[in-house]
Amino acid sequence: EDAQRPEAGHELVVVANRLPVDSRTLPDGATEWVTSPGGLVTAMESVMRTVDSGAWVGWAGGTGEAPSPFVADGMHLYPVPLAGHEVERYYEGFSNATLWPLYHDVIVDPEFHRTWWDDYQRVNRRFARAAAEVAAPGGIVWVHDYQLQLVPAMIRETRPDARIGFFNHIPFPPVELFSQLPKRNQILRGLLGADVLGFQREGDTLNFVAAVRKLLGYHTDGQTITVPGLGTAPSREVQARTFPISIDSQSVSDLTEDPDIQERARQLRADMGDPAKIVLGVDRLDYTKGIRHRLKAWGELLADGAIDPRDAVMIQVATPSRERVDAYRQLRDEVELTVGRINGDHAPIGRPAISYQHRSFDRRDMTALYMAADVVLVTALRDGMNLVAKEYVASRPDEQGVLVLSEFAGAADELRAALRVNPHDIDELKSSILRALAMGEDEQREAMTSLRRQVMDHDVQAWAHAFLDELESVGRDEITTRRI
Ligand code: ADP
Ligand code: G6P
Repeated sequence: EDAQRPEAGHELVVVANRLPVDSRTLPDGATEWVTSPGGLVTAMESVMRTVDSGAWVGWAGGTGEAPSPFVADGMHLYPVPLAGHEVERYYEGFSNATLWPLYHDVIVDPEFHRTWWDDYQRVNRRFARAAAEVAAPGGIVWVHDYQLQLVPAMIRETRPDARIGFFNHIPFPPVELFSQLPKRNQILRGLLGADVLGFQREGDTLNFVAAVRKLLGYHTDGQTITVPGLGTAPSREVQARTFPISIDSQSVSDLTEDPDIQERARQLRADMGDPAKIVLGVDRLDYTKGIRHRLKAWGELLADGAIDPRDAVMIQVATPSRERVDAYRQLRDEVELTVGRINGDHAPIGRPAISYQHRSFDRRDMTALYMAADVVLVTALRDGMNLVAKEYVASRPDEQGVLVLSEFAGAADELRAALRVNPHDIDELKSSILRALAMGEDEQREAMTSLRRQVMDHDVQAWAHAFLDELESVGRDEITTRRI
């Protein structure tokens, strides 16, 4: 299908590094489209499905010429091309070897190269142009995440009529860490091109406002920032606000009623040898997720004899991610070595102690996994939100199951009834796992009921409404209210 570019442009344009679908070239040269990885796409895709004629500007994966604009599930997709060296320097380099580790508390050392910055600027400019071209006069342009922090100001240069929003899906670091970033002031000025800046946790919003105050010296009043005008231009106000992202809770919950998925969940348990307990981890294979800490705890519990591998099995789903970035290669090697050792030391013949899956699954299989899991371990060392935690809760209308949740995941602010852990404390992690395994039905129900209330009441639609309402309420009162 060809995208019909409406004369007047799109009222709502989402700009994100990735499109919701990723193109893959098959061995025979044909192209196949698969859902892109990660929480940003999970969340925004469900939002955009409910919008009439919304546009999404993003990279389709791959290098060289971009596919032509096309329509998928009612969304108008506008692919932005990246050259091979741009994938290396803008995406793998500045985005994922500089910004990602810096914004996640320097769990690994951020690297910085000036050539990466050059490409980051150039690619941001390209995304900004593409968005400016397709937005309706006075339309909303909603920019997402750390790969595109210069885009808000770049759009404003050519499209001052647009309402510009930016949402940061990952943490915003304390100013002491953020200050390490060369080009930090350019990044702040890029972001401040937006009318509204959204963050996951209150702490992220406060960190951002503090960085603006300390590094740029701008006046801030609570979460309102005054950006001084250049020359004779008037000053502008920018709002920094907290909007914890969520999932399409009802549709996840509804999937659990599908008899085919229920059967898959039963089959899964049988395939594992009908253990009394299944413990599940689901993550992109990323060093921020605390997978090593989790494996260490599990390995020690088996070695201590606190867990019998015939009674309890761990399933670790690890989605391949950023595989050409050094830290990710190393992590994969370490995780696979550790899993191999633990299985070698403890697995009964014919059955794993840890079932390790390094690939993607579809929504239905993911739901079956959540339904089969007695315990889900979210042990992130730092995470913007962590949608896996919310998906697990939404998948348990039976109000059974235990969520072990790191206090360093954004979700910990809302999911108060989870079993909270500091994943750095391996002893605490081990005792929390044992406690989760020992919890009776009533205790599970009490916690899960409260978690479900939170997740079902605060879904991604409500999140998007809250953000867009804020964006509509600032400045330019003459523009009529648009709703999704
Ligand atoms: P991140 O955005 O850092 O990847 P989140 O937990 O917020 O972390 O979101 C991850 C999303 O990816 C969730 O929607 C989860 O269901 C999905 N996901 C994770 N692993 C897989 C997998 N192996 N196959 C399919 N989906 C996955
Ligand atoms: C996280 C980030 C997203 C990113 C996703 C997958 O969710 O917040 O911006 O798209 O991870 O990572 P990738 O590098 O594959 O896009």
